[in-house]
Amino acid sequence: MRFGVIAAGVAAVMIAGSAMAHEGVEARQKLMKSIVGNVKAIGAVVKGQSTESMADVARRAGEIKMDADNMGGVFGDQVHVENANGVRTTASPTIWANWSDFFKLGQDMEAAAATLQVTAAGGDMEAVKGAFGAMTKTCGACHKPYRVKKAK
Ligand code: HEC
Repeated sequence: MRFGVIAAGVAAVMIAGSAMAHEGVEARQKLMKSIVGNVKAIGAVVKGQSTESMADVARRAGEIKMDADNMGGVFGDQVHVENANGVRTTASPTIWANWSDFFKLGQDMEAAAATLQVTAAGGDMEAVKGAFGAMTKTCGACHKPYRVKKAK
């Protein structure tokens, strides 16, 4: 009886663990989707294919900055169980072995987004183009080392 109770307790902990893994992967993918949504909208402005204003660009850059600031939280829980509960991750497990490097790449994005925000507030399209280009480079700088191909 006593053994049974302990076993049930262990099972409950395991279930809680996998639910967390699933939420952890979803949370970081949701954060990345929020980032890419803003990047696409700003990209359209820069290409002259949007009715949005420089104020919108500044607001969106501010959102990217905030998302970047939250990266440590959504990735920092060390949940790197792959493909939990049908959610497929492309995060490389090496993130958690190289945490300070990964974190720095997140800070680079945050700084680049902050620069874009200030530049957009200035209203100079050419300068915004440059700052936007510099910010999008920070995406690849992290994806290249720290993303793996999505498991089928
Ligand atoms: C510090 C590292 C880092 C930076 C910087 C970064 N990403 Fe990511 N990104 C990741 C990781 C890791 C994943 C994989 C997450 C997963 O599947 O668990 C990812 C996933 C994504 C995804 C796929 C999300 C999904 O639904 O599977 C998109 C889109 C994305 N990133 C866009 C961007 C854009 C745009 C930028 C730059 C503005 C950016 N990322 C900057 C690390 C980063």
